[in-house]
Amino acid sequence: MTSQISCHFPKGFLWGTATSAHQTEGNNLNDWSIWEPGKTVDGSVSGIACDSYHHFREDIGLAKKLNNNAYRFSIEWSRIEPRQGQFNTKALRHYQAVINECLKQKIEPVVTIHHFTHPLWFSAIGGWENQAAPQIFNNYVLYLAQNITGVKIWCTINEPMLYAWNAYGRGKWPPQKKNLGTWQQVLNNLIKAHCLAYQTLHLINKKCLVGIANNSQYFKPINNNWLNKEINKIAKYIINDYFFKKTAGYEDYIGINYYFYKLIGLGRRPPDNLLRNDLGWPINPYGLYDVLISAKKYNLPIYILENGIADSQDKYRANFIIEHLKMVYQAIQNGCNIKGYFYWSLLDNFEWDKGFVPRFGLYTVDYPSLKRKPRPSSKIYATICKNNGL
Ligand code: BGC
Repeated sequence: MTSQISCHFPKGFLWGTATSAHQTEGNNLNDWSIWEPGKTVDGSVSGIACDSYHHFREDIGLAKKLNNNAYRFSIEWSRIEPRQGQFNTKALRHYQAVINECLKQKIEPVVTIHHFTHPLWFSAIGGWENQAAPQIFNNYVLYLAQNITGVKIWCTINEPMLYAWNAYGRGKWPPQKKNLGTWQQVLNNLIKAHCLAYQTLHLINKKCLVGIANNSQYFKPINNNWLNKEINKIAKYIINDYFFKKTAGYEDYIGINYYFYKLIGLGRRPPDNLLRNDLGWPINPYGLYDVLISAKKYNLPIYILENGIADSQDKYRANFIIEHLKMVYQAIQNGCNIKGYFYWSLLDNFEWDKGFVPRFGLYTVDYPSLKRKPRPSSKIYATICKNNGL
């Protein structure tokens, strides 16, 4: 296999998989767990999820079997700070154990501090609408910075733009508000929160790398009509660049999550012959190249912190990974300083408002027994990770 490699990735490239706390841990008490009953598409609630809270050693072992040298997961704020200003040392010890297990297995832990969920007390005081929210979040960040060891790469907030839009713009996620003024206010607070967290993390550890994960999308105008081209530019600016521009100077890397290709504008949508995943999302590997090349302007290292496919039958996953990685390779050849790629997800998990039906995992999870089993595509990814190329 080694002799057939034509795309050699840079030395030290991080090959990883990603998860988040609420989607995998089980038994969380936060704004989502309260909201879920009766609200998810498939009627499920996160409940015990994959019980990764207790299976974390096994799960990190599964990442190791994929020859991963990095693992991205998140810390659940509601566990660490169950009451405002009161920190739970047992929860802290748990996450330290997760980090230590990664380090023991020679896996770089990439730790997300906020991945969509909130303690109930935070929601009760208005969540991100509260003007004090950035400072309140910063108290949690400070506690982590002072008490957690062994983390070099932090991701403060996962997909702030997407979160704010889903929760306050289109009203799909808790707290289900639909108000553009509130959306803007929330966004401003998330920007402030990130910048504060950036400073706090660096105050305690000068050398760590701090960034966010942005849900970056590949936009194309429906046709060459100038108006559509303008709308396309605006969409691209808001979704892909706004947060990075507003936090310039407070990012050590550009974190990119890539899932979406969207045709933008008014008029008839030309048909495409793209394959679609189980959620109907078109598969467009070239879009990852476009997003990466466009992020070159920031002159910062880039981590692809998420890229993955809902594919319960594992029909497209192997090819999906290969085709996207070819694009990553192309982008590196064309000058992008890309440092890592994290497949979403290590294992099937709770897909937010959609419940458990979408299956993104390289490992299947049989929820009643909680047994994890590798999907065939996991072998392909493991070989790529081992060879540092494809
Ligand atoms: C989120 C994940 C989610 C994935 C697939 C990303 O937007 O960060 O939590 O599971 O997309 O939808």
